[in-house]
Amino acid sequence: MDKIIIQGGRPLEGEVTVSGSKNAALPILISSLLTAERCVYQSVPDLADIHTTLRLLSGLGVKVDRTAWAGGGELMLQAERVEKLEASYELVKTMRASFLVLGPLLARFGEARVSTPGGCAIGARPVNLHLKGLEALGATIEQDHGYLAAKASRLRGAKIYLDLPSVGATENLLMAATLAEGTTVIENAAKEPEIEDLAAALNKMGAKIDGAGGDIVKIEGVSELHGVTHRVIPDRIEAGSFVIAGALAGGEVSVKGARLAHLDAFLSKLKEAGLMLTADQDGVRVKGGGNLKSVDVTTLPYPGFPTDLQAQTMVLMSVAEGVSVITETIFENRFMHAQELDRMGADIRLEGNRALIRGVKQLSGAPVMASDLRASVALVLAGLVASGTTEVSRVYHLDRGYEHIERKLSQLGAKIERVKA
Ligand code: EPZ
Repeated sequence: MDKIIIQGGRPLEGEVTVSGSKNAALPILISSLLTAERCVYQSVPDLADIHTTLRLLSGLGVKVDRTAWAGGGELMLQAERVEKLEASYELVKTMRASFLVLGPLLARFGEARVSTPGGCAIGARPVNLHLKGLEALGATIEQDHGYLAAKASRLRGAKIYLDLPSVGATENLLMAATLAEGTTVIENAAKEPEIEDLAAALNKMGAKIDGAGGDIVKIEGVSELHGVTHRVIPDRIEAGSFVIAGALAGGEVSVKGARLAHLDAFLSKLKEAGLMLTADQDGVRVKGGGNLKSVDVTTLPYPGFPTDLQAQTMVLMSVAEGVSVITETIFENRFMHAQELDRMGADIRLEGNRALIRGVKQLSGAPVMASDLRASVALVLAGLVASGTTEVSRVYHLDRGYEHIERKLSQLGAKIERVKA
């Protein structure tokens, strides 16, 4: 398994361009199942999770043309002849977002057999809201040896209330409702920018979706959808991760392509901590190296502070002045980076879903182990500012969500290399 080795203490300077959003691209690529026509996608990031999604879709019979994409160009998908209606345990275990094929397969083909996603490092991550919504649309879903066997002659529009504004459930139901008979209303829908981007792509395919990005989304079912060309929005979590890198390592970093509106809660929290941030025409400039104050953070569904930037912010607070409290309200086990940071000299105490972080002067480099996607990038960020050498193992977690991160960081002046183990 590869390792990433970082020599800390070097200031970062220059520009970094944000890639397309992983969490927008995954459901959008899967939505190509809803039509037999060509779907062309731009700004799809070159990530392990995208490769897994392409493997999943081609396994179902979707034609995938990645020639242009390999050189950073367009990706073409066409679900003209879908031979299989099953997402295997192997794939769903590798990437939970594979579960999002359930809605589109049911909507277009009337049946699907999808492995139940197990839990993962950060939590149990049940899918009860996905299933409750699909059953409300008229699907019958049965447990079948670790799989869910779902059937629906024709989905019918319904009013669905989500107990939690689940991103995945909103995406599954949005896709399913586009081809249902009649009107569907999803109440307490997730409002993330990735939901809006999925709805934008679906509407370009002829869907009739109103209100995506708000908590009440209305979908007028149509008989079929046509092909699309769609550019995926920039990745707000990658952008936020680079803002933290600039804040930690000093110097001046310009994060190009970030949509500031997608980072409101995050950027205002960093400003509260005293970070020098200025918006420029297509992104945000961060001037690092100043002494930051400790601030308290509570993760919330969008537009609240994003849980996917919690680990990265914990690194920043571990070298801020004072004591901060980070409360994680979305996932029940998303503090695994804390003990690794403590090995680097941080002073973090965990009490249930709260982390108390007492800022220290300096972190010190150490061998550490990544446990999940965002924890892994937090450890790389800590290595940038720690004295000496930090060695991050199990970086396959990192490759799921960050496109060529060591290349991007070394272009900013970091001393970072990947070692094939
Ligand atoms: C999406 O996961 C993202 N993944 C996650 O990003 C992100 O952290 C999360 O949304 C929250 O913003 C993708 O988009 C591929 P949820 P998802 O359904 O859809 C509970 C990353 O690092 N819940 O909004 O799985 C669930 O247990 C990843 O890029 C139910 O109880 O998130 C969790 O506590 C990590 N029942 C909360 O809701 C359900 O049926 C939020 O989950 C569904 C969810």
